[in-house]
Amino acid sequence: MTTPDNGTTLSAAARAALETARRRTLRLTDQVTDDDLVAQHSRLMSPLVWDLAHIANQEDLWLVRTAGRRPGLRPDLDPLYDAFQHPRADRPALPLLGPAAARAYLTAVRAATFEVLAGTDTSPDNPDPLLANGFVFGMLAQHEQQHDETMLATLQLREGPPVVQAPAPPPAPADAATLPREVLVPGGPFTMGTSTDPWALDNERPHHTVDVPAFWLDTVPVSNAAYQAFVDDGGYREPRWWAPEGWRHVRKAGLRAPLFWRREGGRWLRRRFGVTEAVPPDEPVLHVCWYEADAYARWAGRRLPTEAEWEKAARHDPATGRSRRHPWGDAEPGPEHANLGQRHLQPAPVGSFPAGAAPSGARQLIGDVWEWTASDFDPYPGFTAFPYKEYSEVFFGPDYKVLRGGAFSVDPVAGRSTFRNWDYPIRRQIFAGFRTAGNAAGEGRD
Ligand SMILES: [Fe+2]
Repeated sequence: MTTPDNGTTLSAAARAALETARRRTLRLTDQVTDDDLVAQHSRLMSPLVWDLAHIANQEDLWLVRTAGRRPGLRPDLDPLYDAFQHPRADRPALPLLGPAAARAYLTAVRAATFEVLAGTDTSPDNPDPLLANGFVFGMLAQHEQQHDETMLATLQLREGPPVVQAPAPPPAPADAATLPREVLVPGGPFTMGTSTDPWALDNERPHHTVDVPAFWLDTVPVSNAAYQAFVDDGGYREPRWWAPEGWRHVRKAGLRAPLFWRREGGRWLRRRFGVTEAVPPDEPVLHVCWYEADAYARWAGRRLPTEAEWEKAARHDPATGRSRRHPWGDAEPGPEHANLGQRHLQPAPVGSFPAGAAPSGARQLIGDVWEWTASDFDPYPGFTAFPYKEYSEVFFGPDYKVLRGGAFSVDPVAGRSTFRNWDYPIRRQIFAGFRTAGNAAGEGRD
């Protein structure tokens, strides 16, 4: 979605985004058996059938009852599907709806949602901030796509033969092998965050000016080959590369390589969606936690970029001084720009998508893999919680690190360069990699 200025366009965009998310929800869950839907594949994740009914319940709550001012379909289910009331590990023991009932709930809620949408003024002039620009519909489309990503992560954790497939991304372009290792992002102020993007969430607001000194940024995400050099160099056995709490975690958890990697017959293998294969050297590294990214960067004589540095590299156009919606401009992400939307169930080789490059020349800032940044998840100056404190505010602080840029698992509806994701620094089941940075003054570079 660009920035349409009338309700008709926004209503159509909302409908399309909700339909896209739903197609993916059904495709992901239609491919697994009912037994697989109710099983818990990892204590880190919900049973898939919980995600299904939770998607429906949030839509029932926000679109049918709140936006539509209707009684709703199953308000009695709210406590059962409230993510704050039940940690993921406890969800299998709840009296959840079964697969057929969960699907029926989704369908019934969606029919009511579209009736509400048809009767809603989604123009920017609507005095209700939930309805203006169709915000709450965009919020729920982003919510469902986020659960599509979580469900995909559950299927990656699932043991057993493959249940999901997608075509491989195109091979790397011819110039991928000759790209400069890093690009220079010039110093100076830039506009971070947004106050105008219609479906931007509270944590992306408001826009504000941040002065970012010049820095070097890796042109592409760190590859498996580069990361394997750190592993093979004994990086996981050398405390000097690790932050103290990272070192404690590596020892306690027994980490030796990225999640889903294993060593066999003198080479590294990797399991992805039920398929075990040699680690492909030119793919961005995936399934590393923040501590691993931080340690690799120290080993390489580098550091992780701050969140402000990442966003400046992804948005700032030095020619105009303006912040773009995406690295390539304001146009919606297309297949030539970025690997988004579960079109491929893997990252594209490093150096892909020259048409999606930022003004600095950095590639793949959007899509492929989430990128860990050095920064804690903090509010922007002037932050206001909307529509509720549990959306972002309760997560602010040093417990969470920010990830940027989305991954192949993320829908374009959340693929804007202001979008912020956050997670614990020990998390590895998410589709996260990273790239490194260095000071332009000469420190922090090899
Ligand atoms: Fe949720």
